[in-house]
Amino acid sequence: MGNCTDVIDARRSVRDLSGDVPEEVVRDLLRAGARAPSPHNTQPWRFVVLGQSSKSRLAAILHERYVMKFGREPGAEERASRLRTRIEAAPLVLLLCLDRARIRTGEGREHIEWVMATQSLAAAAENMWLAAVSRGFDAAWIAAPLAVGEAIRNALGMDGSLEPQILMLLGRRSIDPRPKSELGWRDLTTFLERSPWMGALSSRSQRMPRSRPTFARWSPVDRSSADSAGGPS
Ligand SMILES: Cc1cc2nc3c(=O)[nH]c(=O)nc-3n(C[C@H](O)[C@H](O)[C@H](O)COP(=O)(O)O)c2cc1C
Repeated sequence: MGNCTDVIDARRSVRDLSGDVPEEVVRDLLRAGARAPSPHNTQPWRFVVLGQSSKSRLAAILHERYVMKFGREPGAEERASRLRTRIEAAPLVLLLCLDRARIRTGEGREHIEWVMATQSLAAAAENMWLAAVSRGFDAAWIAAPLAVGEAIRNALGMDGSLEPQILMLLGRRSIDPRPKSELGWRDLTTFLERSPWMGALSSRSQRMPRSRPTFARWSPVDRSSADSAGGPS
């Protein structure tokens, strides 16, 4: 696939995956993950590649714990079974963990350091995902490990410092995902100052259909200059 923005545009969550992910692609993905930015360059992550038997163990434990935890919610059993099937069917399953042993500590900054480490793990996950898309593969991001970290650690015999956060399923899509609705960047951006290119932007944006303007707008501080510029809409 072409350049970075083409890859970003092509990325979608694809949860039913099949096919095969060749070894060199797996290496590429892991390398892309390892190149993510991290606080103080600590790279506080561990990427776990699951084989057939660990995949089944993980799928079973997630199913069991999910039902235990959320079983009272309508449709929980069905969701848990669907997740189990998807994990077992995925050609490549990666478990992305924070490594608490690599997170900096310090008076009053534990929370900030943990948040930054988590943000960097998300950056690593996105790097991997985009690398997969650029090679013609798809992925799904599954957050379930967040709710059952300890059970996963026990089931897979993982070190106590590892905090499972993201399960990435990877493979090939068999059907295209449905189009999704999304806010456009105009809905998500506030310009605090007038920029030379804002005029052109606002006249162009008037011709474009707006995505759902459901958010209350936070008005720029400098209303007068934003209004006189026409403001991006
Ligand atoms: C932090 C995070 C957690 C997510 N957790 C799940 C999940 O547990 N299960 C799932 O099917 N998708 C999960 N997703 C995928 C989102 O549902 C998906 O990105 C969103 O619906 C937009 O669709 P798209 O990825 O095709 O653009 C998660 C995404 C993020 C960023």
